Amino acid sequence: MSRIKKIGVLTSGGDAPGMNAAIRAVVRTAIFNKLEVVGINRGYEGLIKGDFEHMKSYDVSNIIQKGGTILGSARSQDFRSVEGRKKAHEQMLAAKMDALVVIGGDGTFSGARIFTQEYDIPVVGIPGTIDNDLYGTDYTIGFDTALNTVIDAVDKIRDTASAHNRLFFIEVMGRDAGFLALRSGIATGAEAILIPERQTHTKDLEKYLALGYKGHKNSGIVIVAEGDKSGGAYTIAGEIEKKHPEYDIRVSVLGHMQRGGAPSAFDRVTASTLGVAAVDALLDDQKSIMVGMVNGEVSHVPFNKTIKNKKKVKDSLITINDVLSI
Ligand code: F6P
Repeated sequence: MSRIKKIGVLTSGGDAPGMNAAIRAVVRTAIFNKLEVVGINRGYEGLIKGDFEHMKSYDVSNIIQKGGTILGSARSQDFRSVEGRKKAHEQMLAAKMDALVVIGGDGTFSGARIFTQEYDIPVVGIPGTIDNDLYGTDYTIGFDTALNTVIDAVDKIRDTASAHNRLFFIEVMGRDAGFLALRSGIATGAEAILIPERQTHTKDLEKYLALGYKGHKNSGIVIVAEGDKSGGAYTIAGEIEKKHPEYDIRVSVLGHMQRGGAPSAFDRVTASTLGVAAVDALLDDQKSIMVGMVNGEVSHVPFNKTIKNKKKVKDSLITINDVLSI
């Protein structure tokens, strides 16, 4: 018999479509297993302030299809401090909460790891970020939806680019990672993709563009990951414009629209699977781990591992785009 009777669930960091589906799965799996569940508002901020609500099964009705997070999210500065985490622990004791499920990205898990080192609280993480940049899982919740949102936007930009024979630099999210840029670039037939994991010299980019955009095409799309070393879409577009005044260049930064919208079927199913797996893991006395998906199966990865290792982009995908963008 597990000693866990009451669990808390929170969403933290940048929201991602599918977080609601994960909350629903956590709440219902807990209730199914006769546990009490507490929803914690605004991530670790709410944990510190004791901003909790008791959750029943119907509280998560009708949310599987919704973007955002019904619990709200935050990037808590206070939880980075010893005093902040002490307050959070006191609030948990006062509410008789035995364990936590945290849904978020690497910042969320780093906070959880320190918390579990300082206090004997079992915490299980569910990967939720549109960046897909967590080691130990093939997919993070929200990535697939964001990818489809980007594709939809880029396809529309391609229409107008073709009509005017223009070259567009389109910036997509990904502060430290190019997963969204790489896959959306392949899926939209981008002429070039700039990601933080691989340096593309301006000279090489010019070569791609001379071949494609200026060679035989009536438009050009360069997908730029927000965190690319070129400094972002405006910077690299400016450089190319200086060297090629003959190019008709425009820039589009997609921004936070990439984080919203109804989650895709894939994200809903992944979120539901991982929500169930997270509660099961707590009932199995696991702590300080993330549940993820590897080759279609649930994986259990220690926070240490997922935080310390950097997920690699697939070289084969980079090659695929080099071949197909000519
Ligand atoms: O959640 C990840 C992410 O979307 C990154 O891709 C992006 O750099 C960042 O969040 C933006 O964060 P904020 O919403 O705090 O500006």
